[in-house]
Amino acid sequence: MNDSAIAESTPPLKREKKAVKANKITEENSDAYTTVGQAFSENAKMSMTNVDVFYGEKQAIYDVNLDIGTNEVVAMIGPSGCGKSTFLRCLNRMNDTIDTCRVTGNFFLEDQNINDKKMDVVPLRARVGMVFQKPNPFPKSIYDNVAYGARIHGLADRRSDLDEIVETSLQKAGLWNEVKDRLQQPGTGLSGGQQQRLCIARTIAVSPEVILMDEPCSALDPIATAKIEELIDELSQNYTIAIVTHSMQQAARVSHRTAYFHLGKLIEVNETEKVFTNPDHDLTEAYITGRFG
Ligand SMILES: Nc1ncnc2c1ncn2[C@@H]1O[C@H](COP(=O)(O)OP(=O)(O)OP(=O)(O)O)[C@@H](O)[C@H]1O
Ligand SMILES: [Mg+2]
Repeated sequence: MNDSAIAESTPPLKREKKAVKANKITEENSDAYTTVGQAFSENAKMSMTNVDVFYGEKQAIYDVNLDIGTNEVVAMIGPSGCGKSTFLRCLNRMNDTIDTCRVTGNFFLEDQNINDKKMDVVPLRARVGMVFQKPNPFPKSIYDNVAYGARIHGLADRRSDLDEIVETSLQKAGLWNEVKDRLQQPGTGLSGGQQQRLCIARTIAVSPEVILMDEPCSALDPIATAKIEELIDELSQNYTIAIVTHSMQQAARVSHRTAYFHLGKLIEVNETEKVFTNPDHDLTEAYITGRFG
């Protein structure tokens, strides 16, 4: 059978879907799609395949495939409700805390599938740490906030070891000079931007490999935001970072690759500069030019 004969014998609907698969996705028929661009990495720290997420009957993530490279910063962008936080939370099993949430698919952290129900999430969350939208220091001293994880995970036998972990974590988080004389004061007494850096120090203190950030600057002023962005840049030398942001400028400033989500689907992943100057997909273009979102 030649090509036109095959086309004739294929029901019209199927033919349409094939065309869509070949990359012509529009908002109307975004049901069938393949992610365009470069979702895979040569040097993956985390590798996700066939990820579906449901809240009860409602599906929130559809067949997402994405790698996050070692020491790479991947930004996740897209309109409100498109599934960015849901996807991010899968990466350290935070969705386990939501009763109705069901996650299927593979999530490899190097060679370990972290979606395996036998996996202990406590050590996993030390390896894959998370910084939330709203700074959430514990009602403890600055010192104890940073020392918390190190104590739980038994990382320091002696007080002097713990002191060192606290100091280096605060230094890496760019907060040491501002708090070194008030380590015993409550973490909640710091400014919002300082609290967020404290939370980053707390995350770093347990030597994670991956840091997840869900809109870490949305509660901060531009100066505090600039500090966190500088920090992300420095941290990326030693850590792998996935960051959700509503700020396209922020994604452009801090990330190497950008992933665009739309209605639970991963539409496009590409080098950040490409996404913001010459995206492959119409939906990405519509979003970055402000036509929706
Ligand atoms: N705990 C939950 N229970 C039920 N549905 C939820 C829950 N959390 C999120 N959803 C739904 O899942 C979808 C994706 O939500 P999610 O919070 O991941 O979006 P988002 O891209 O992070 O949005 P935003 O930019 O507003 O933070 C939405 O339709 C949302 O209503
Ligand atoms: Mg969110």
